[in-house]
Amino acid sequence: MRDSLDQRVAEAADLVTVALDALLPRADGPEQRLTEAMRYAALGPGRRMRPFFMLETARMFGVEERSVLRAACALECVHAYSQVHDDLPCLDDDDLRRGRPTLHRAYDEATAILAGDGLQAVAFEIMAHPDTHSDGTIRAELVRRLAVACGAKGMVGGQMIAVVGVGDDLGAIARMQRMKTGALIACAFDLALVLGRAPESERQALVAFAQDLGLAYQIVDDFTDAAGEEDLLGKAAAERNGAGRKVNFVTLLGVDAARERVDLLAAQAKAHLDMFGDDARYLRNSVDFVLDRRQ
Ligand code: IPE
Ligand code: MG
Ligand code: MG
Ligand code: MG
Repeated sequence: MRDSLDQRVAEAADLVTVALDALLPRADGPEQRLTEAMRYAALGPGRRMRPFFMLETARMFGVEERSVLRAACALECVHAYSQVHDDLPCLDDDDLRRGRPTLHRAYDEATAILAGDGLQAVAFEIMAHPDTHSDGTIRAELVRRLAVACGAKGMVGGQMIAVVGVGDDLGAIARMQRMKTGALIACAFDLALVLGRAPESERQALVAFAQDLGLAYQIVDDFTDAAGEEDLLGKAAAERNGAGRKVNFVTLLGVDAARERVDLLAAQAKAHLDMFGDDARYLRNSVDFVLDRRQ
């Protein structure tokens, strides 16, 4: 099972990388620097877990591959933009991401800001295009959900909280994590469920799965930062979130309790998939895969 899961994750990554390469703009003029920077950020190495989740979920509801691939490309563009801006000196000031210089290091800050903006714009351009779905109401719903996930009540809202700081209140930290990381992970499922016109009970179960998995994922990310495993993630270990404050589940609970929390969330996430039986086997197995950052 593990081998075929690895294979499936790799296949999803290849599919979306090829599609993204075709969809991202190229330019010959003086703006070429921008399109090259956008491509550097979006086509670099990555596990592409969000596209994997989307393709798996879409398969459960019989969605056409072209539709889900385009929606996955749109979400990946937003994800890439969020990382480019997150790494900037005014936010986390990171020099490395996945073993390569961050975009503002490879280019410069102005280019990184503009490339992030460009990636966000192209995400909505891809999503709204008639090739994504023939039904305009479905396209509008996809656009709206992506906007909500990356907006003030989602990713950028969570980023603002990370900058302002939340003190040592676990509930507030969980909310921040749900927003800054969880929202885009949940969005992967949400978009596939819109495309699949999924029934409400099934949609609720998958969104609950995504929320538990998303929070567990962020704790593992913080755990890895705390452990200083720079080589594994290819980014500086002593990452500063926001204005140099680094309060998260790991710093508050300690490594052991944070690990227990991850295990609990992982079990809870898998339980949400019970109603899908064997159809959800790859999603079920992906929980441990996603939470093992050595992959
Ligand atoms: C920010 O969280 C997530 C976004 C990019 C929105 P982190 O700052 O912890 O993310 P990493 O660890 O740099 O990827
Ligand atoms: Mg960061
Ligand atoms: Mg982090
Ligand atoms: Mg950050």
